[in-house]
Amino acid sequence: MAIRQIRKIGDDILNKQCKEVKEMNRRTRQLIDDMFDTMYEQNGVGLAASQVGILKQIVVIDVEDGNQYVLINPRIIEQSGSQTDQEGCLSVPGKHGTVTRPNHVKVRFLDENMEECELEGEEMLARAICHECDHLRGILYVDLVEGELMDNEEETD
Ligand code: NI
Repeated sequence: MAIRQIRKIGDDILNKQCKEVKEMNRRTRQLIDDMFDTMYEQNGVGLAASQVGILKQIVVIDVEDGNQYVLINPRIIEQSGSQTDQEGCLSVPGKHGTVTRPNHVKVRFLDENMEECELEGEEMLARAICHECDHLRGILYVDLVEGELMDNEEETD
């Protein structure tokens, strides 16, 4: 288990286009494992490789639907409907904002065995897929936010 450092807004790497993954190897498997560890440690629901400083088209998602998704070279091939809700990002700590996303998406990608797969998601999963695929193109949700970026409430115990 290894927690990697999450790059924060203002770091140029977050605005860069990620490169396609051509083959699976030990290093990339380790990266994927570390991305899950890093995401869970920060209570996130998704993480893109660029957020840990690696410009590869890899995202991990866990929206607590019982699945751990690994999407390599993902392409959104269908989208429909619309949802408007709050969104945050581990690279923009302490903030959230309102973003409109498709309510349903279908994404084509390679899994960790480099097998071609498709996944359909609605609501929170659709939002996570869109948010993470944007990261791979160097786009942060703050570029899409409607109105002001807001501060998260202080956690109280
Ligand atoms: Ni994010």
